Amino acid sequence: MTMKNVLLCVTGSIAVYKAAELANRLNKDGFNVETIMTHGAREFVAPLTFQTLTGNKVHTEMFDLYDPDHQVEHISLARKADVCIVAPATANVIGKIASGIADDMVSTVIMALDHAPVYICPAMNTKMYENPIVQKNIKSLWAMGYRFIEPKESRLACGDIGRGAMADVNVIVNTVVTYLQCKNQNSKK
Ligand SMILES: Cc1cc2nc3c(=O)[nH]c(=O)nc-3n(C[C@H](O)[C@H](O)[C@H](O)COP(=O)(O)O)c2cc1C
Repeated sequence: MTMKNVLLCVTGSIAVYKAAELANRLNKDGFNVETIMTHGAREFVAPLTFQTLTGNKVHTEMFDLYDPDHQVEHISLARKADVCIVAPATANVIGKIASGIADDMVSTVIMALDHAPVYICPAMNTKMYENPIVQKNIKSLWAMGYRFIEPKESRLACGDIGRGAMADVNVIVNTVVTYLQCKNQNSKK
């Protein structure tokens, strides 16, 4: 399989530390990982962590002036992605994608995606996850072809026990690698 581009969108959940592990796994498994972080995500972990683990600059700002390639960054990132993973996905970003809001780098690149499927890995408190608005957004995104890697039941960072912990890194990696392998085999037929 030729080197595939994984677009990793990281949003503001305590589960950001697991996304660092995910970035590390994907990089070691031979993927080119481009990371975009929301402002919220950067409150938990510094971009330097992802930059070091992936060997790529981390994208954070919509309106960066310096661009050596004279490319519109959000469009070039969207174009080159073979697959997009939103991990962890907050209630906020799920709502924004479902509503067509594009007010930061993560939501704008997702809006601009062309062929790449989006795997959304929710991570939030159980009450937030069960909130009818979040569930309605998830259902409507499903219907539009967005894919979800479901959160698991666990003792959450807030102390509650219930569904809402981000899926294990192994589950996310296996899901995405299986998709890319199937796509690769189909393209050879
Ligand atoms: C300590 C802490 C933990 C949080 N964990 C989560 C979480 O797991 N899931 C979630 O949806 N929001 C969580 N939030 C709230 C989000 O960070 C907040 O809604 C933010 O606006 C999300 O922005 P973003 O989606 O642009 O990253 C947390 C906030 C704090 C202060």
